[in-house]
Amino acid sequence: MMRVAVVVLLFLTDGALCKKVCSYQDVVDYLNLTRDNSVYKLTRPVLDYTHPTTVELDILLYAILAVIEKTQTFIPFIWATMMWNNERISWDPAQFCGITKISVPHDMLWKPDLFIYEMIQKDDSPQNPYMIVSYDGTVISEEDMKVVSTCKMDVHKFPFDTQKCNISVGSAVHSVDELRIYPSSNSSRATQFSREVMKTQGEWEFLHLSVASYNFTFDSKQWEQLIYTFTMKRRPLLHVINFLLPILFFLCLDLASYFISDHRGEKLGFKVTVLLAISVLLLILNDILPSMSNKTPLIATYCIVIFALMLLSLLETIFVTYLMEKDSQANLRIGDDWEDKQEKVKIDNSNTEDKRPTGCSCICKVPDGEKQHELLPVAEEVDSIMQTGESHVLLLILEELKELQKTANLHLSCREEARRSYHWATRINRAFFIFYLVVVSTFLSLIFMEWNS
Ligand SMILES: *[C@@H]1O[C@H](CO)[C@@H](O)[C@H](O)[C@H]1NC(C)=O
Ligand SMILES: *[C@@H]1O[C@H](CO)[C@@H](O)[C@H](O)[C@H]1NC(C)=O
Ligand SMILES: *[C@@H]1O[C@H](CO)[C@@H](O)[C@H](O)[C@H]1NC(C)=O
Ligand SMILES: *[C@@H]1O[C@H](CO)[C@@H](O)[C@H](O)[C@H]1NC(C)=O
Repeated sequence: MMRVAVVVLLFLTDGALCKKVCSYQDVVDYLNLTRDNSVYKLTRPVLDYTHPTTVELDILLYAILAVIEKTQTFIPFIWATMMWNNERISWDPAQFCGITKISVPHDMLWKPDLFIYEMIQKDDSPQNPYMIVSYDGTVISEEDMKVVSTCKMDVHKFPFDTQKCNISVGSAVHSVDELRIYPSSNSSRATQFSREVMKTQGEWEFLHLSVASYNFTFDSKQWEQLIYTFTMKRRPLLHVINFLLPILFFLCLDLASYFISDHRGEKLGFKVTVLLAISVLLLILNDILPSMSNKTPLIATYCIVIFALMLLSLLETIFVTYLMEKDSQANLRIGDDWEDKQEKVKIDNSNTEDKRPTGCSCICKVPDGEKQHELLPVAEEVDSIMQTGESHVLLLILEELKELQKTANLHLSCREEARRSYHWATRINRAFFIFYLVVVSTFLSLIFMEWNS
């Protein structure tokens, strides 16, 4: 009876043992992982010092925060995952109710001293406080960082440019025989993952993330580094709307000013205004582009050539205006004669009805025959009306009309004369307009081809 009881008791206690409750603290206690235990922190965690520690690194692009051409700065927000092996850590999960992973504060264990070569500012985003430790000694550390990095950018094709920026990761003190770095995902996977997680791209369209491994020799030692290359393309729409199109519109306005008449200086004022508008746009460009560049940005060429063309067209207008001014001064002298003659005509008119003045012919050289032909019917009518003597009012009106017709004829023929004398001005304008059109279209097609290539 007693024996049976003992067996039952043993069985019960055994059952109770099977339902053991485990906590992470048990694992920590088992590892003797305390803050004052320096075993895990001091040295590279290998049992044999000739073993290199292998670090697997994965970097994903989460956001492109800024690409600043002026200061040649590239600011991505990245997720970096590091994985390495700590040979001092191991436990049997079966002893701890199957616990395979624990999280520990990140300052409790040794960490590879990886840093980013291009980083020019300390990261101020909050750090992830924990690392994951697995039963086989694998440690995983994740960090989200805003990397302010320097990147040599080529703005030749701005705003249709594609930029490539490097982020090189390497150890500061451990050379290649102590620490090896491997990328945990190859270029295509990294690109795909980045596309999946990417939240904000802003002005930039993320194209590609590639990773390559390099050994770099310094002080007769080799240091391994991983170079992540981010390739991104600018979305040019804003710059096109803000910049390229307005300049093109101003150019069109300048071209259209060909149809404004030359005299009275309206054209000149118009062209100067357009030129001023362009120079304001040029000031904006100054804020965007870096002052130092190995190759002249196409957009600068675009602006300066268009500016120069407009300047040329302004000069042409000034020249034509000047010539016409000179011409009209010459005309003014003739004009005075014309006024005198006009006066004489008026006096003649008041004296006699029948005497038809042909004052215009002397100045404006209107063919006499034509004039007579036009005036004759009216005169005949007047005569007939006078003969009937029906209405004095009608007569007066007709008289007025006659006078008007005469003046109109005078003016018309004078304008004709002016046009003839300004013929060469029109010719210069037309020749310049055609030259301008050809140069502008050639230049625009060339520069857009260059932008497209
Ligand atoms: C744990 O570490 C302490 C000192 O930090 C040491 O005195 C103790 O012996 C260690 N225990 C084990 C089991 O290693
Ligand atoms: C980026 O790294 C590649 C090698 O992967 C190198 O050829 C290229 O010149 C680097 N680019 C910059 C901007 O440093
Ligand atoms: C990249 O890795 C994935 C799996 O991790 C593999 O399927 C793919 O073939 C690899 N691509 C290249 C170019 O190595
Ligand atoms: C860098 O050096 C290590 C060890 O010497 C070698 O195994 C590795 O292939 C080298 N990597 C490159 C990219 O040359």
